Amino acid sequence: MNRTHAMSLLTLVASLLMGSAAEAQVKLTVLADQPGAVIHRNVYGQFAEHLGTGIYEGLWVGPESRVPNLRGWRIDVVKALKNLKVPLVRWPGGCFADEYHWREGIGPRQQRPVKVNTTWGGVAETNAVGTHEFFDLVEQVGAEAYVNGNLGTGSAQETAEWLEYMTAEGQSTLAELRRKNGRDKPFRVHYFAIGNEAWGCGGHMRPEYYVDLYRQFATFAKAPRGSRPVFIASGGHDERTDWTEALAKGLKGVPFGAISHHGYTLPTGKWDKKGSAVGFGEDQWISTLAHTLKIDDYIARNKAVLDQHDPKKQIGFFFDEWGSWYDPEPGTDPGFLVQRNTLRDALLAALHFNVFHAHADRVRMSNVAQMVNVLQAMIVTSKDKLALTPTYHAFEMYTPFQDATSLGLRLENNPAYSVGAVSMPSLSATAARGKDGRLWLGLVNSDPNKPQELLLDLAGAGAAVTSAKGRVLTAAAMDAENRIGETEQVRPQPYEAGLVNGKLLLKLPAKSVVVVALTR
Ligand code: AHR
Repeated sequence: MNRTHAMSLLTLVASLLMGSAAEAQVKLTVLADQPGAVIHRNVYGQFAEHLGTGIYEGLWVGPESRVPNLRGWRIDVVKALKNLKVPLVRWPGGCFADEYHWREGIGPRQQRPVKVNTTWGGVAETNAVGTHEFFDLVEQVGAEAYVNGNLGTGSAQETAEWLEYMTAEGQSTLAELRRKNGRDKPFRVHYFAIGNEAWGCGGHMRPEYYVDLYRQFATFAKAPRGSRPVFIASGGHDERTDWTEALAKGLKGVPFGAISHHGYTLPTGKWDKKGSAVGFGEDQWISTLAHTLKIDDYIARNKAVLDQHDPKKQIGFFFDEWGSWYDPEPGTDPGFLVQRNTLRDALLAALHFNVFHAHADRVRMSNVAQMVNVLQAMIVTSKDKLALTPTYHAFEMYTPFQDATSLGLRLENNPAYSVGAVSMPSLSATAARGKDGRLWLGLVNSDPNKPQELLLDLAGAGAAVTSAKGRVLTAAAMDAENRIGETEQVRPQPYEAGLVNGKLLLKLPAKSVVVVALTR
Protein backbone atom coordinates (compact mmCIF):
# COMPACT_ATOMS: atom_id res chain seq x y z
CA MET A 1 0.00 0.00 0.00
CA ASN A 2 1.46 3.39 -0.94
CA ARG A 3 1.47 6.50 1.26
CA THR A 4 -1.56 8.11 -0.48
CA HIS A 5 -3.64 4.94 -0.11
CA ALA A 6 -2.63 4.62 3.52
CA MET A 7 -3.61 8.26 4.17
CA SER A 8 -7.04 7.89 2.53
CA LEU A 9 -7.65 4.66 4.46
CA LEU A 10 -6.81 6.49 7.67
CA THR A 11 -9.13 9.34 6.68
CA LEU A 12 -11.91 6.80 6.01
CA VAL A 13 -11.41 5.06 9.36
CA ALA A 14 -11.32 8.43 11.13
CA SER A 15 -14.49 9.61 9.44
CA LEU A 16 -16.22 6.29 10.21
CA LEU A 17 -15.17 6.62 13.82
CA MET A 18 -16.39 10.19 13.97
CA GLY A 19 -19.58 9.20 12.28
CA SER A 20 -20.21 6.39 14.76
CA ALA A 21 -19.29 8.75 17.60
CA ALA A 22 -21.95 11.15 16.34
CA GLU A 23 -24.45 8.27 16.03
CA ALA A 24 -23.59 7.16 19.54
CA GLN A 25 -25.06 10.29 21.09
CA VAL A 26 -27.43 9.00 23.74
CA LYS A 27 -30.90 10.35 23.12
CA LEU A 28 -33.90 10.30 25.40
CA THR A 29 -37.23 10.93 23.73
CA VAL A 30 -40.07 11.58 26.14
CA LEU A 31 -43.45 10.95 24.57
CA ALA A 32 -45.10 13.71 26.53
CA ASP A 33 -48.33 13.44 24.54
CA GLN A 34 -48.68 9.72 25.28
CA PRO A 35 -49.67 9.45 28.95
CA GLY A 36 -49.69 6.00 30.50
CA ALA A 37 -50.96 4.75 33.83
CA VAL A 38 -50.83 6.79 37.02
CA ILE A 39 -47.91 5.83 39.27
CA HIS A 40 -49.78 5.00 42.46
CA ARG A 41 -48.18 6.69 45.46
CA ASN A 42 -48.18 3.31 47.21
CA VAL A 43 -45.40 2.24 44.86
CA TYR A 44 -43.34 4.13 47.44
CA GLY A 45 -44.66 2.01 50.34
CA GLN A 46 -42.64 0.72 53.27
CA PHE A 47 -42.46 -2.49 55.26
CA ALA A 48 -41.99 -2.74 59.06
CA GLU A 49 -41.73 -6.22 60.56
CA HIS A 50 -41.20 -7.47 64.09
CA LEU A 51 -37.62 -8.28 63.19
CA GLY A 52 -34.40 -7.23 64.91
CA THR A 53 -34.52 -3.53 65.80
CA GLY A 54 -36.83 -2.68 62.91
CA ILE A 55 -39.71 -1.87 65.23
CA TYR A 56 -38.44 -2.16 68.80
CA GLU A 57 -35.67 0.47 69.24
CA GLY A 58 -35.78 1.71 65.65
CA LEU A 59 -39.32 3.05 65.80
CA TRP A 60 -40.85 2.10 69.12
CA VAL A 61 -39.09 3.08 72.33
CA GLY A 62 -42.15 3.11 74.57
CA PRO A 63 -43.74 6.11 76.31
CA GLU A 64 -41.38 5.83 79.29
CA SER A 65 -38.22 6.12 77.19
CA ARG A 66 -35.77 9.02 77.49
CA VAL A 67 -35.61 9.03 73.70
CA PRO A 68 -38.11 11.74 72.69
CA ASN A 69 -41.31 10.00 71.64
CA LEU A 70 -44.99 10.52 71.04
CA ARG A 71 -46.98 7.74 72.69
CA GLY A 72 -43.95 5.46 72.36
CA TRP A 73 -42.99 6.22 68.74
CA ARG A 74 -39.68 8.04 68.17
CA ILE A 75 -40.32 11.65 67.19
CA ASP A 76 -37.14 11.94 65.08
CA VAL A 77 -37.87 8.82 63.03
CA VAL A 78 -41.52 9.72 62.46
CA LYS A 79 -40.45 13.21 61.35
CA ALA A 80 -37.99 11.75 58.83
CA LEU A 81 -40.68 9.37 57.51
CA LYS A 82 -43.16 12.22 57.11
CA ASN A 83 -40.55 14.14 55.14
CA LEU A 84 -40.34 11.10 52.87
CA LYS A 85 -44.12 11.26 52.31
CA VAL A 86 -44.38 7.58 53.22
CA PRO A 87 -47.76 6.65 51.74
CA LEU A 88 -48.22 3.17 53.18
CA VAL A 89 -46.79 0.88 55.87
CA ARG A 90 -47.06 -2.92 55.82
CA TRP A 91 -47.08 -4.68 59.22
CA PRO A 92 -46.47 -7.00 61.21
CA GLY A 93 -44.54 -9.18 58.70
CA GLY A 94 -43.28 -10.90 56.58
CA CYS A 95 -42.67 -14.33 57.98
CA PHE A 96 -43.57 -12.98 61.42
CA ALA A 97 -47.16 -12.37 60.27
CA ASP A 98 -47.86 -16.11 60.02
CA GLU A 99 -47.02 -16.54 63.70
CA TYR A 100 -48.75 -13.42 64.94
CA HIS A 101 -51.91 -13.65 67.03
CA TRP A 102 -53.56 -10.26 67.25
CA ARG A 103 -55.29 -10.80 70.61
CA GLU A 104 -51.85 -10.98 72.25
CA GLY A 105 -51.18 -7.39 71.14
CA ILE A 106 -54.18 -5.58 72.62
CA GLY A 107 -55.08 -4.39 76.11
CA PRO A 108 -52.73 -3.13 78.84
CA ARG A 109 -49.18 -3.56 77.58
CA GLN A 110 -47.76 -4.94 80.81
CA GLN A 111 -50.30 -7.77 80.69
CA ARG A 112 -49.55 -8.87 77.15
CA PRO A 113 -47.88 -12.25 76.76
CA VAL A 114 -44.17 -12.37 76.00
CA LYS A 115 -43.42 -14.83 73.21
CA VAL A 116 -40.33 -16.09 71.43
CA ASN A 117 -39.85 -14.57 68.00
CA THR A 118 -38.96 -17.94 66.51
CA THR A 119 -38.48 -16.58 63.00
CA TRP A 120 -36.11 -13.74 63.79
CA GLY A 121 -33.33 -14.45 66.26
CA GLY A 122 -35.35 -16.29 68.92
CA VAL A 123 -35.60 -13.09 70.96
CA ALA A 124 -38.40 -12.03 73.29
CA GLU A 125 -41.43 -10.54 71.56
CA THR A 126 -43.15 -8.43 74.20
CA ASN A 127 -46.18 -7.62 72.07
CA ALA A 128 -45.76 -4.00 73.19
CA VAL A 129 -46.53 -2.99 69.62
CA GLY A 130 -49.92 -4.33 68.61
CA THR A 131 -52.89 -3.21 66.58
CA HIS A 132 -53.53 0.10 68.39
CA GLU A 133 -49.87 1.08 68.40
CA PHE A 134 -49.51 0.26 64.70
CA PHE A 135 -52.45 2.44 63.74
CA ASP A 136 -51.10 5.23 65.92
CA LEU A 137 -47.85 5.01 63.94
CA VAL A 138 -49.49 5.16 60.51
CA GLU A 139 -51.69 8.02 61.65
CA GLN A 140 -48.65 9.93 62.96
CA VAL A 141 -46.81 9.32 59.68
CA GLY A 142 -49.89 10.12 57.56
CA ALA A 143 -49.74 6.77 55.77
CA GLU A 144 -52.26 4.11 54.79
CA ALA A 145 -52.31 0.81 56.68
CA TYR A 146 -51.48 -2.56 55.17
CA VAL A 147 -52.11 -5.33 57.71
CA ASN A 148 -50.77 -8.79 56.92
CA GLY A 149 -52.98 -11.55 58.32
CA ASN A 150 -51.95 -14.94 59.67
CA LEU A 151 -52.84 -17.87 57.47
CA GLY A 152 -49.94 -20.12 58.50
CA THR A 153 -50.79 -20.66 62.18
CA GLY A 154 -54.03 -18.68 62.40
CA SER A 155 -57.58 -19.62 61.58
CA ALA A 156 -60.32 -18.19 59.40
CA GLN A 157 -62.17 -17.28 62.60
CA GLU A 158 -59.18 -15.43 64.10
CA THR A 159 -58.77 -13.48 60.85
CA ALA A 160 -62.47 -12.63 60.65
CA GLU A 161 -62.45 -11.46 64.27
CA TRP A 162 -59.37 -9.30 63.79
CA LEU A 163 -61.06 -7.54 60.91
CA GLU A 164 -64.21 -7.10 62.95
CA TYR A 165 -62.19 -5.74 65.88
CA MET A 166 -60.50 -3.18 63.63
CA THR A 167 -63.41 -2.13 61.45
CA ALA A 168 -66.78 -2.72 63.18
CA GLU A 169 -68.80 0.45 63.64
CA GLY A 170 -71.90 -0.26 65.69
CA GLN A 171 -72.83 -2.80 68.31
CA SER A 172 -70.42 -5.67 68.53
CA THR A 173 -68.58 -7.15 71.45
CA LEU A 174 -65.31 -6.85 69.53
CA ALA A 175 -65.98 -3.19 68.69
CA GLU A 176 -66.72 -2.62 72.38
CA LEU A 177 -63.43 -4.26 73.28
CA ARG A 178 -61.65 -1.93 70.85
CA ARG A 179 -63.38 1.05 72.48
CA LYS A 180 -62.43 -0.21 75.92
CA ASN A 181 -58.84 -0.35 74.68
CA GLY A 182 -58.98 3.32 73.75
CA ARG A 183 -60.22 3.51 70.18
CA ASP A 184 -63.76 4.59 69.52
CA LYS A 185 -63.65 5.10 65.75
CA PRO A 186 -62.89 2.04 63.64
CA PHE A 187 -59.38 1.79 62.24
CA ARG A 188 -59.06 2.22 58.50
CA VAL A 189 -57.49 -0.93 57.07
CA HIS A 190 -56.69 -0.10 53.46
CA TYR A 191 -55.08 -3.43 52.58
CA PHE A 192 -55.23 -6.85 54.19
CA ALA A 193 -53.08 -9.80 53.10
CA ILE A 194 -54.10 -13.39 53.73
CA GLY A 195 -50.77 -15.01 54.57
CA ASN A 196 -47.25 -14.25 53.42
CA GLU A 197 -44.88 -16.24 51.20
CA ALA A 198 -47.15 -19.28 51.32
CA TRP A 199 -44.54 -21.06 49.17
CA GLY A 200 -41.96 -20.65 51.98
CA CYS A 201 -42.04 -19.43 55.60
CA GLY A 202 -45.83 -19.04 55.35
CA GLY A 203 -46.38 -22.80 55.26
CA HIS A 204 -44.43 -24.32 52.34
CA MET A 205 -47.63 -24.84 50.42
CA ARG A 206 -48.43 -25.77 46.90
CA PRO A 207 -50.35 -23.03 45.03
CA GLU A 208 -53.47 -25.24 44.77
CA TYR A 209 -53.60 -25.83 48.54
CA TYR A 210 -53.07 -22.12 49.26
CA VAL A 211 -55.83 -21.19 46.83
CA ASP A 212 -58.31 -23.36 48.75
CA LEU A 213 -57.23 -21.95 52.10
CA TYR A 214 -57.36 -18.39 50.78
CA ARG A 215 -60.90 -18.98 49.51
CA GLN A 216 -61.93 -20.18 52.96
CA PHE A 217 -60.30 -17.27 54.84
CA ALA A 218 -61.49 -14.61 52.37
CA THR A 219 -65.08 -15.84 52.57
CA PHE A 220 -65.29 -14.86 56.24
CA ALA A 221 -62.99 -11.83 56.18
CA LYS A 222 -65.57 -9.08 56.23
CA ALA A 223 -65.69 -5.36 56.90
CA PRO A 224 -68.47 -2.76 56.65
CA ARG A 225 -69.28 -1.54 53.14
CA GLY A 226 -67.13 1.46 52.28
CA SER A 227 -64.29 0.38 54.52
CA ARG A 228 -63.43 -2.99 53.04
CA PRO A 229 -59.72 -3.43 52.53
CA VAL A 230 -58.18 -4.59 49.31
CA PHE A 231 -57.47 -8.28 49.91
CA ILE A 232 -54.04 -9.50 48.86
CA ALA A 233 -53.05 -13.08 48.03
CA SER A 234 -49.54 -14.43 48.46
CA GLY A 235 -47.85 -14.97 45.10
CA GLY A 236 -44.44 -15.89 43.73
CA HIS A 237 -40.92 -14.53 43.99
CA ASP A 238 -39.13 -14.80 40.68
CA GLU A 239 -39.73 -15.10 36.96
CA ARG A 240 -42.01 -18.10 37.32
CA THR A 241 -45.71 -17.52 36.86
CA ASP A 242 -47.23 -20.64 38.44
CA TRP A 243 -48.49 -18.77 41.53
CA THR A 244 -49.96 -15.96 39.46
CA GLU A 245 -51.65 -18.48 37.18
CA ALA A 246 -53.12 -20.46 40.09
CA LEU A 247 -54.36 -17.35 41.91
CA ALA A 248 -55.83 -15.68 38.84
CA LYS A 249 -57.69 -18.89 37.92
CA GLY A 250 -58.59 -20.06 41.40
CA LEU A 251 -59.70 -16.95 43.28
CA LYS A 252 -62.77 -16.02 41.28
CA GLY A 253 -65.84 -15.30 43.39
CA VAL A 254 -64.03 -14.39 46.62
CA PRO A 255 -62.61 -10.98 47.65
CA PHE A 256 -59.28 -10.73 45.86
CA GLY A 257 -57.72 -7.43 44.80
CA ALA A 258 -54.04 -8.11 44.28
CA ILE A 259 -51.16 -10.56 44.21
CA SER A 260 -48.17 -10.06 46.49
CA HIS A 261 -44.87 -10.73 44.72
CA HIS A 262 -41.46 -10.61 46.42
CA GLY A 263 -38.05 -10.10 44.88
CA TYR A 264 -34.75 -9.46 46.67
CA THR A 265 -31.42 -8.56 45.10
CA LEU A 266 -28.40 -10.62 46.20
CA PRO A 267 -25.05 -9.61 44.68
CA THR A 268 -23.99 -13.23 44.12
CA GLY A 269 -27.48 -14.65 43.71
CA LYS A 270 -26.59 -17.25 46.37
CA TRP A 271 -28.37 -17.33 49.73
CA ASP A 272 -25.47 -18.97 51.59
CA LYS A 273 -22.95 -16.29 50.51
CA LYS A 274 -24.86 -13.27 49.33
CA GLY A 275 -22.05 -10.74 49.17
CA SER A 276 -20.90 -7.88 51.35
CA ALA A 277 -22.74 -4.59 51.85
CA VAL A 278 -19.48 -2.61 51.80
CA GLY A 279 -15.94 -3.15 50.52
CA PHE A 280 -17.16 -4.99 47.42
CA GLY A 281 -15.47 -4.92 44.03
CA GLU A 282 -16.86 -3.71 40.73
CA ASP A 283 -17.85 -7.28 39.89
CA GLN A 284 -20.41 -7.16 42.71
CA TRP A 285 -21.45 -3.62 41.92
CA ILE A 286 -22.51 -4.68 38.44
CA SER A 287 -23.91 -8.08 39.42
CA THR A 288 -26.17 -6.35 41.98
CA LEU A 289 -27.51 -3.71 39.63
CA ALA A 290 -27.83 -6.11 36.68
CA HIS A 291 -29.76 -8.52 38.91
CA THR A 292 -32.12 -5.73 39.93
CA LEU A 293 -33.04 -5.07 36.33
CA LYS A 294 -34.27 -8.66 36.00
CA ILE A 295 -37.44 -7.68 37.83
CA ASP A 296 -38.57 -6.00 34.62
CA ASP A 297 -38.81 -9.42 33.00
CA TYR A 298 -40.33 -11.04 36.10
CA ILE A 299 -43.09 -8.45 36.19
CA ALA A 300 -43.69 -8.60 32.43
CA ARG A 301 -44.12 -12.39 32.49
CA ASN A 302 -46.55 -12.29 35.39
CA LYS A 303 -48.48 -9.40 33.89
CA ALA A 304 -48.90 -11.36 30.67
CA VAL A 305 -50.56 -14.16 32.64
CA LEU A 306 -52.78 -11.70 34.48
CA ASP A 307 -53.77 -10.02 31.22
CA GLN A 308 -55.20 -13.34 29.98
CA HIS A 309 -57.39 -13.79 33.06
CA ASP A 310 -58.10 -10.17 33.92
CA PRO A 311 -57.97 -7.98 30.81
CA LYS A 312 -59.61 -5.09 32.68
CA LYS A 313 -56.59 -4.97 35.00
CA GLN A 314 -58.60 -5.11 38.18
CA ILE A 315 -56.09 -7.32 39.96
CA GLY A 316 -53.00 -5.49 41.13
CA PHE A 317 -49.52 -6.97 41.03
CA PHE A 318 -47.98 -5.69 44.26
CA PHE A 319 -44.21 -5.97 44.70
CA ASP A 320 -44.62 -5.83 48.46
CA GLU A 321 -41.11 -6.90 49.43
CA TRP A 322 -38.01 -5.81 47.56
CA GLY A 323 -34.52 -4.57 48.27
CA SER A 324 -30.90 -5.58 48.66
CA TRP A 325 -30.05 -8.50 50.91
CA TYR A 326 -26.37 -8.83 51.89
CA ASP A 327 -24.39 -10.96 54.32
CA PRO A 328 -25.20 -9.75 57.84
CA GLU A 329 -22.99 -7.08 59.32
CA PRO A 330 -20.19 -8.88 61.23
CA GLY A 331 -20.79 -8.91 64.98
CA THR A 332 -24.57 -8.60 64.70
CA ASP A 333 -27.22 -11.26 65.28
CA PRO A 334 -27.69 -12.89 61.86
CA GLY A 335 -31.41 -13.16 62.63
CA PHE A 336 -31.64 -9.36 62.78
CA LEU A 337 -30.73 -8.80 59.12
CA VAL A 338 -28.51 -5.81 59.83
CA GLN A 339 -26.64 -4.48 56.82
CA ARG A 340 -24.95 -1.24 55.83
CA ASN A 341 -26.43 0.98 53.16
CA THR A 342 -24.37 2.65 50.46
CA LEU A 343 -24.59 4.57 47.22
CA ARG A 344 -25.11 1.20 45.48
CA ASP A 345 -28.39 0.82 47.39
CA ALA A 346 -29.55 4.24 46.23
CA LEU A 347 -29.01 3.26 42.60
CA LEU A 348 -30.67 -0.09 43.22
CA ALA A 349 -33.72 1.72 44.63
CA ALA A 350 -33.92 4.14 41.71
CA LEU A 351 -33.65 1.28 39.20
CA HIS A 352 -36.58 -0.41 40.96
CA PHE A 353 -38.63 2.79 40.74
CA ASN A 354 -37.94 3.17 37.03
CA VAL A 355 -39.06 -0.41 36.39
CA PHE A 356 -42.14 -0.10 38.62
CA HIS A 357 -43.18 3.09 36.77
CA ALA A 358 -42.98 1.25 33.46
CA HIS A 359 -45.47 -1.29 34.86
CA ALA A 360 -47.66 1.20 36.69
CA ASP A 361 -50.81 -0.31 35.18
CA ARG A 362 -50.50 -3.34 37.50
CA VAL A 363 -47.75 -2.48 39.97
CA ARG A 364 -49.90 -0.23 42.10
CA MET A 365 -47.98 -0.93 45.30
CA SER A 366 -44.48 -1.86 46.34
CA ASN A 367 -42.87 -2.06 49.77
CA VAL A 368 -39.18 -1.77 50.35
CA ALA A 369 -37.76 -4.19 52.90
CA GLN A 370 -37.50 -2.64 55.36
CA MET A 371 -38.20 0.79 56.83
CA VAL A 372 -35.73 1.06 59.75
CA ASN A 373 -32.56 -0.88 60.74
CA VAL A 374 -33.38 -4.02 58.72
CA LEU A 375 -32.10 -4.95 55.23
CA GLN A 376 -32.24 -1.98 52.81
CA ALA A 377 -33.41 0.51 55.43
CA MET A 378 -34.29 4.17 54.98
CA ILE A 379 -33.11 5.02 58.46
CA VAL A 380 -30.61 3.50 60.88
CA THR A 381 -30.73 4.26 64.59
CA SER A 382 -28.54 3.81 67.61
CA LYS A 383 -29.87 4.91 70.99
CA ASP A 384 -31.17 8.46 70.44
CA LYS A 385 -29.25 9.01 67.18
CA LEU A 386 -30.22 8.33 63.59
CA ALA A 387 -28.77 8.46 60.10
CA LEU A 388 -30.63 8.78 56.81
CA THR A 389 -29.25 6.25 54.35
CA PRO A 390 -28.52 6.78 50.65
CA THR A 391 -31.70 4.76 50.03
CA TYR A 392 -33.65 7.36 52.03
CA HIS A 393 -32.33 10.07 49.72
CA ALA A 394 -33.30 8.13 46.59
CA PHE A 395 -36.85 7.75 47.95
CA GLU A 396 -37.00 11.42 48.88
CA MET A 397 -35.76 12.56 45.45
CA TYR A 398 -38.42 10.44 43.73
CA THR A 399 -41.38 11.81 45.76
CA PRO A 400 -42.62 13.94 42.80
CA PHE A 401 -43.44 10.64 41.06
CA GLN A 402 -46.07 9.73 43.66
CA ASP A 403 -49.43 9.86 41.84
CA ALA A 404 -47.76 11.27 38.71
CA THR A 405 -48.84 10.09 35.25
CA SER A 406 -46.23 7.93 33.60
CA LEU A 407 -45.11 8.90 30.09
CA GLY A 408 -43.74 6.73 27.31
CA LEU A 409 -40.07 7.14 26.44
CA ARG A 410 -37.36 5.93 24.08
CA LEU A 411 -33.73 5.67 25.11
CA GLU A 412 -31.49 5.37 22.06
CA ASN A 413 -27.80 4.46 21.92
CA ASN A 414 -27.79 3.51 25.57
CA PRO A 415 -24.19 2.37 26.05
CA ALA A 416 -23.51 -1.04 27.52
CA TYR A 417 -21.71 -1.15 30.83
CA SER A 418 -19.78 -4.41 31.26
CA VAL A 419 -17.51 -6.11 33.75
CA GLY A 420 -16.22 -9.54 32.69
CA ALA A 421 -19.17 -11.54 31.41
CA VAL A 422 -21.82 -9.30 33.01
CA SER A 423 -23.29 -6.52 30.95
CA MET A 424 -26.15 -4.10 31.46
CA PRO A 425 -27.36 -0.82 29.97
CA SER A 426 -25.52 2.13 31.52
CA LEU A 427 -28.61 4.28 31.72
CA SER A 428 -32.11 3.87 33.00
CA ALA A 429 -34.81 6.51 32.71
CA THR A 430 -38.37 7.27 33.68
CA ALA A 431 -40.60 10.22 32.83
CA ALA A 432 -43.88 11.39 34.27
CA ARG A 433 -46.21 14.37 34.47
CA GLY A 434 -46.32 15.24 38.15
CA LYS A 435 -49.38 16.26 40.11
CA ASP A 436 -47.81 19.72 40.02
CA GLY A 437 -48.24 19.70 36.21
CA ARG A 438 -44.48 19.60 35.63
CA LEU A 439 -42.59 17.06 33.60
CA TRP A 440 -40.23 15.02 35.78
CA LEU A 441 -37.35 12.76 34.79
CA GLY A 442 -35.66 10.12 36.94
CA LEU A 443 -32.29 8.98 35.60
CA VAL A 444 -29.68 6.47 36.72
CA ASN A 445 -26.14 6.10 35.40
CA SER A 446 -25.01 2.68 36.64
CA ASP A 447 -21.50 2.97 35.21
CA PRO A 448 -19.24 3.77 38.18
CA ASN A 449 -16.41 5.01 35.95
CA LYS A 450 -17.93 6.98 33.14
CA PRO A 451 -20.17 10.05 33.05
CA GLN A 452 -22.79 10.06 30.31
CA GLU A 453 -24.38 12.81 28.23
CA LEU A 454 -27.98 12.54 27.29
CA LEU A 455 -29.69 14.63 24.64
CA LEU A 456 -33.34 15.28 25.37
CA ASP A 457 -36.13 15.25 22.84
CA LEU A 458 -39.57 16.13 24.14
CA ALA A 459 -41.93 14.85 21.49
CA GLY A 460 -45.28 16.54 21.94
CA ALA A 461 -44.26 18.54 25.01
CA GLY A 462 -45.55 21.78 23.53
CA ALA A 463 -43.59 24.87 24.49
CA ALA A 464 -39.82 24.62 24.39
CA VAL A 465 -38.04 23.46 27.51
CA THR A 466 -34.92 25.42 28.33
CA SER A 467 -33.58 23.87 31.49
CA ALA A 468 -33.75 20.90 33.78
CA LYS A 469 -33.43 21.55 37.49
CA GLY A 470 -33.36 19.14 40.36
CA ARG A 471 -30.88 17.11 42.36
CA VAL A 472 -28.13 14.58 41.86
CA LEU A 473 -27.01 11.84 44.24
CA THR A 474 -23.49 10.50 43.83
CA ALA A 475 -20.25 10.01 45.78
CA ALA A 476 -16.60 9.28 45.19
CA ALA A 477 -16.75 5.63 46.26
CA MET A 478 -19.16 2.90 45.17
CA ASP A 479 -19.71 1.99 48.81
CA ALA A 480 -19.94 5.52 50.23
CA GLU A 481 -22.41 5.37 53.10
CA ASN A 482 -24.11 7.35 55.82
CA ARG A 483 -23.76 6.01 59.36
CA ILE A 484 -24.37 7.25 62.85
CA GLY A 485 -21.66 9.87 63.38
CA GLU A 486 -20.99 10.14 59.63
CA THR A 487 -24.37 11.12 58.33
CA GLU A 488 -23.49 13.44 55.47
CA GLN A 489 -21.27 11.31 53.17
CA VAL A 490 -23.99 10.77 50.58
CA ARG A 491 -26.41 13.65 50.14
CA PRO A 492 -28.36 15.01 47.18
CA GLN A 493 -26.80 18.09 45.61
CA PRO A 494 -28.43 20.72 43.39
CA TYR A 495 -28.36 19.88 39.71
CA GLU A 496 -29.07 21.98 36.65
CA ALA A 497 -28.73 21.40 32.94
CA GLY A 498 -29.29 23.95 30.22
CA LEU A 499 -29.28 24.33 26.47
CA VAL A 500 -26.20 23.47 24.43
CA ASN A 501 -26.53 24.64 20.83
CA GLY A 502 -30.26 24.98 21.36
CA LYS A 503 -30.63 21.45 22.78
CA LEU A 504 -31.12 20.28 26.31
CA LEU A 505 -28.13 18.20 27.29
CA LEU A 506 -28.09 16.35 30.61
CA LYS A 507 -24.69 15.35 31.96
CA LEU A 508 -24.96 12.43 34.35
CA PRO A 509 -21.98 11.81 36.61
CA ALA A 510 -20.68 8.26 36.94
CA LYS A 511 -22.70 6.18 39.48
CA SER A 512 -25.43 8.70 39.97
CA VAL A 513 -29.15 9.20 40.39
CA VAL A 514 -30.59 12.41 38.94
CA VAL A 515 -34.15 13.67 39.35
CA VAL A 516 -35.11 16.85 37.50
CA ALA A 517 -38.15 18.90 36.60
CA LEU A 518 -38.12 20.42 33.14
CA THR A 519 -38.70 24.15 32.96
CA ARG A 520 -39.25 26.71 30.25
O1 AHR B 1 -37.94 -9.09 54.86
C1 AHR B 1 -37.46 -10.22 55.50
C2 AHR B 1 -38.23 -11.47 55.13
O2 AHR B 1 -38.05 -11.77 53.79
C3 AHR B 1 -39.73 -11.43 55.28
O3 AHR B 1 -40.14 -11.68 56.58
C4 AHR B 1 -40.18 -12.52 54.38
O4 AHR B 1 -41.48 -12.32 53.88
C5 AHR B 1 -39.12 -12.56 53.30
O5 AHR B 1 -38.66 -13.83 53.06
